[in-house]
Amino acid sequence: MQHHLDTNRANWDDRAAAHAARNGLGYNVQRYVDDPGLLSEIVRFDLDRLGDVAGLRTVHLQCHIGTDTLSLARLGARVTGLDFSPVALAEARALVADTGDQVDFVESDVYSALSVLEPETFDLVYTGIGALCWLPSIDRWAAVVCGLLAPGGRLFLREGHPILWTMDERIADDLHLRFPYFEQEEPLEWDDDSSYVETDRPITATKTFEWNHGLGEIVTALLGVGLNLTMLVEHDSVPWEALPGQMLRRGDGEYALDARAGVAPLSYTIQAVKPLR
Ligand SMILES: C[S@@+](CC[C@H](N)C(=O)[O-])C[C@H]1O[C@@H](n2cnc3c(N)ncnc32)[C@H](O)[C@@H]1O
Repeated sequence: MQHHLDTNRANWDDRAAAHAARNGLGYNVQRYVDDPGLLSEIVRFDLDRLGDVAGLRTVHLQCHIGTDTLSLARLGARVTGLDFSPVALAEARALVADTGDQVDFVESDVYSALSVLEPETFDLVYTGIGALCWLPSIDRWAAVVCGLLAPGGRLFLREGHPILWTMDERIADDLHLRFPYFEQEEPLEWDDDSSYVETDRPITATKTFEWNHGLGEIVTALLGVGLNLTMLVEHDSVPWEALPGQMLRRGDGEYALDARAGVAPLSYTIQAVKPLR
């Protein structure tokens, strides 16, 4: 398992540097410096569902280069971002140094989060969009989420739909369900020198390992650690061009299926609350 973690971290170190380019490519992060009120598309998409986060002690798991993290801070949350990629965190710290947003960042594997953060101290655990697929066990993830939450606190997750992860993006003529929907012990192994946003150089650490988790498995894992599910909404769009050649970019920046619009959910939002003692 250490080999999988190290391989994935090398890939994310590489991608983080490319994603954080200040030349308009990658995540186009300069816009967060230029516009101090700007929120990331990912956070903006769920604003109504997310509700008021002002003053909430918040941890953003798998925060990457901090664009969603600083968006939560701009909504008034007291945020700590956590990621296992030192390069992603260096880029995230450099970004908030330039934007002036108040965010802390800690380096850790998700599964070790409870050894670097105080247990049961967060009102909000926020995560998603390309996060869960890097974790081999959804049950272990749910236990970490529950361990981080203070009683009464909530998980807010928006993620690519597991049915989307079964589709083969390399075939552009139709939807092809090819990969496992349910969690498997053995990961899928990929070798790809590109990323999901345009970058000005190829990725050199190209190998990755990923795991899918079915929607039922995710919900069951959250219920299993004692959280109460308070929201589960499936969406017909994702915030990146997940199936190149088969998607239309909408006005809100989301990508939906073109010819087969509505035939399958592409992402979902879940909220789950830790009961008061
Ligand atoms: C696609 S990004 C998701 C973040 C966010 N949605 C975004 O677009 O900025 C995935 C992040 O997960 C991090 N990651 C992957 N596996 C991890 C692990 N086991 N522990 C902590 N972070 C991990 C990567 O370093 C990367 O920054």
